[in-house]
Amino acid sequence: MPAVAKRVKNLPPYLFARIERLIAEKRAAGVDVISLGIGDPDEPTPEHIREEAKRQLEIPENHRYPTSVGLPAFRQAVARYYARRFGVELNPEREVVTLIGSKEGIAHIAWCYLDAGEVALVPDPSYPVYAGGTILAGGEPYYLPLLPENGFLPRLEDVPTEVARRAKILFLNYPNNPTAAVASSSFFAEVVAFAREFDLLVCHDAAYVEVAFDGYRPSSFLATPGAKEVGIEFGSLSKPYNMTGWRLGWAAGKEEAVEVLGRLKSNIDSGVFQPIQYAGIKALDGPQECVKEMNALYQLRRDLAVAAFREMGWKIDPPKATFYLWLPVPSGFTSESFAEYLVEEAGVVVTPGTGYGRHGEGFFRVSLTLPTERLQEALVRMKRVLGKVSF
Ligand code: MLT
Repeated sequence: MPAVAKRVKNLPPYLFARIERLIAEKRAAGVDVISLGIGDPDEPTPEHIREEAKRQLEIPENHRYPTSVGLPAFRQAVARYYARRFGVELNPEREVVTLIGSKEGIAHIAWCYLDAGEVALVPDPSYPVYAGGTILAGGEPYYLPLLPENGFLPRLEDVPTEVARRAKILFLNYPNNPTAAVASSSFFAEVVAFAREFDLLVCHDAAYVEVAFDGYRPSSFLATPGAKEVGIEFGSLSKPYNMTGWRLGWAAGKEEAVEVLGRLKSNIDSGVFQPIQYAGIKALDGPQECVKEMNALYQLRRDLAVAAFREMGWKIDPPKATFYLWLPVPSGFTSESFAEYLVEEAGVVVTPGTGYGRHGEGFFRVSLTLPTERLQEALVRMKRVLGKVSF
């Protein structure tokens, strides 16, 4: 057998694939597992979006190859969304490309910019695809610690100058997965200045920009003056419209990055099935009450989870955005041993912080994307096995 390519050998198994296997094993052994693991909305895609997909499915032209960079109508809907929601003007032909979910675009942008041994700045902890995409492209991640004392923002001034000079990409993601932190417009302005100084492409993952609470409305990185000259933003229909399985997203912003990503993709995939893109147009252009209702539901779950964790001894503030809680593990545990303990003793799956990088040690993530009664049941079980915790 030929040897597997080194860059694939270096790739760790995908975090949520490992967790899925663990859940399947436990269920096969008869355990009633409750998963607070992957952030996969449990409610169905809203009806008006499903109806549009059904209607479009009956149109024969939609059964053929889609254009690889996306339907002009979908890219126009993305541009309208940016104008309406963030006051950002985008040229839909040149500054937007459709993606088969933002995950593949994030991995492929690393292929577009990194030659072997070149550096991408990757937050730690972060969504595993930033590092994974970099490694697959033959590049090297340089990790930027996200620490509680910095509000889980990277300290750009701490990046050694010689590393910043060698780096070509800076990955960022606010509202943040896994820490649920949010970024201010002044932080984004600092990012633009840093990218200009070191000639970097900023790749901002905005998957959670619509999942926010208590009246807070996160902004787009592209709304920062100068952002479009240094960066692209990855958008996703998955989280706001409960469409994770549909695989639909986009990249928008810097024209060269959009063009090169579209060119790479047209060589390796054939785009998104058109009925799905039409459903996406319906989602973006249609009534937004469904997004508000989902946020109200996550807010309710957030509040009851925060109250339960506080009763157990955690000192936590309710996050302003995302459907995650990022919590310190009690004393005597590592991230892994705590996650293992909860599965074994309570049948509850949480994600160990180390799944998102070395600096995730000492934390675990709870996802609120499960029916409220199951979340309550998970919290009751955790209280039963943990009692009062200390740190
Ligand atoms: C997560 O749980 O971190 C996300 O749902 C994973 C993803 O978006 O692929």
